[in-house]
Amino acid sequence: MRVFVTKIIPAPGLELLKQAGLTISQWTEERPMTKEELLAGALQCDALFCSGPYKLDKAFLQACSHLRVIALMSVGFDQVDVAEATRLGIPVGNTPGVLSNATADMALLLMLATSRKAFYMYRKIVNGTWTRDVNSSEMGMELQGKTLGIVGLGKIGLEMARKCRALYNMHILYHNRGRNEQAEKTLGAERVSFEELLRRSDVVSVHVALTPDTRNLFDRRAFAQMKPTAIFINTSRGGVHNEADLTAAIRDKTIWGAGLDVTNPEPMHKDNPLLTMPSVCVLPHIGSATLETRTAMAELAAKNILAGLAGQPLPAPVNPAVTPAGR
Ligand code: DGY
Repeated sequence: MRVFVTKIIPAPGLELLKQAGLTISQWTEERPMTKEELLAGALQCDALFCSGPYKLDKAFLQACSHLRVIALMSVGFDQVDVAEATRLGIPVGNTPGVLSNATADMALLLMLATSRKAFYMYRKIVNGTWTRDVNSSEMGMELQGKTLGIVGLGKIGLEMARKCRALYNMHILYHNRGRNEQAEKTLGAERVSFEELLRRSDVVSVHVALTPDTRNLFDRRAFAQMKPTAIFINTSRGGVHNEADLTAAIRDKTIWGAGLDVTNPEPMHKDNPLLTMPSVCVLPHIGSATLETRTAMAELAAKNILAGLAGQPLPAPVNPAVTPAGR
């Protein structure tokens, strides 16, 4: 059996595949593959281990309906037409849980960096414009005792809430489809409507998947309901906020600032005005990029491949209704 691996991944993940006797075909170039290269690689294999900026859309899946399993090395699966994979009987797996701590750390880092205008102040040193003292417009704000609003209280959102409660005794609001009694009991979290969360939060941190319902969830109307002192943090997907509306909201002082690990499009253009705004910090989608987390993700994705090829339920299935067909 052959697996197509779409980029260089941490060795322990590859080892699991090799130890199972699978033949590995791997894309090892720095540049991402073209659509045609991805298709050519997948056509020659029984399983696809997918990491990188690849859209597994209806056309791709129909051309690759022979695939016995697709394992994503990400928790997000918005790049896959899951309905079509399910219709074709292709099991799809992802990597939830193992990246929650690293991604919540990223949200925390961006919240802190934004609250102290850290990236902007760093640029003053690099640009040779460091003066003796900060002026009042360069001053930051403290987080102690402030209110954090979590939109999407899944594993990553919960981890962010825990960290903020422990570090800064922040009051936690959350907006979620379901209730999270654990968060209510252990963190004193309050479940509120989206509008109430926007109105009351000093920091709004987004942890939702990108779906038709959440695309552009943070638009001009949402920003208008936030406090003028509020910080917006997005470590989920760039499509969840409308970038033009966010830029206008910060420029017009509708909100105070933003910390983004995700943008729309990615990569963000180097001339994007957000990159020069004092109270904005942007990073290049590195939420899960620690050695420990990427290794755990590679291992979980490899286990999804092995289970799919063995006809077993995937440890982390995206479409559990599909029963793997096996070898
Ligand atoms: C994820 O796992 O979804 C991260 O955002 C990396 O893409």
